[in-house]
Amino acid sequence: MFRDESGHRPTQKIFTEVPPKYDFLNRVLTLNMDEDWRKKTAREVLANNPSKVLDLCCGTADLTMHIAAYADKETELYGLDFSHTMLARAKEKVAVFGEDRIKLIQGDAGNMPFENDYFDSIGISFGFRNLTFENPDAQLHIKEVLRVLKPGGRFVIVETSQPENDLVRILYHVYHNVITAPIGGLISGNRDAYNYLAYSANNYYTLNELSALLKNAGFSKTTGTPLMMGAAAIMVAVK
Ligand SMILES: C[S@@+](CC[C@H](N)C(=O)[O-])C[C@H]1O[C@@H](n2cnc3c(N)ncnc32)[C@H](O)[C@@H]1O
Repeated sequence: MFRDESGHRPTQKIFTEVPPKYDFLNRVLTLNMDEDWRKKTAREVLANNPSKVLDLCCGTADLTMHIAAYADKETELYGLDFSHTMLARAKEKVAVFGEDRIKLIQGDAGNMPFENDYFDSIGISFGFRNLTFENPDAQLHIKEVLRVLKPGGRFVIVETSQPENDLVRILYHVYHNVITAPIGGLISGNRDAYNYLAYSANNYYTLNELSALLKNAGFSKTTGTPLMMGAAAIMVAVK
């Protein structure tokens, strides 16, 4: 299990310290592919013409922005994250859509301030790994998503995955060890955060494992699509 330099599990602290260089590092470390993946994810989030949408673990609102750009004006949009520094950056960015267009909420994914069956669709970009990987609250987090999602609603996850091809998988793991951890740590000044990113990405689920996790928790149907030879993937799970 990952421990930071003080011997602790990664916590809220990690996501509070990264933000100033966070967006820049995402572009650099994914070779500028992350925004394209979020755009595809936003389209999947909106595929059921939802009237209420949540961007869970919205961070600096990159996925929220794409959802807002593609959604009908009447669609209610929310972003939730527990890091106030991520949300401060998010607030500046979503201002282009006008005040009150997007409601940003500081809260915990394990205890969300929404009624049962509230959302038609929930998206999460690069946050589900944090909610589930070596996380004792993984089941709690998935049950909470199921609680606030309407029956038939969509939960759309874009996340790092595992390439099926052995050689590609080895190169992908080397990339995280040799580039993501040291470069991310150097540029952000937060070694723990990027060591955690590299470790969790290298050890995260395959699409089949992710599908099993979601179905065992109560989702009725899952569809996974690999991106960039399986380095990442979009998973659509239906309640
Ligand atoms: C890797 S970042 C992804 C941010 C954003 N979605 C993106 O695409 O860049 C993970 C985010 O999950 C948030 N997070 C992690 N655990 C959380 C929890 N239990 N409740 C709410 N937010 C959480 C962190 O604060 C962080 O902003």
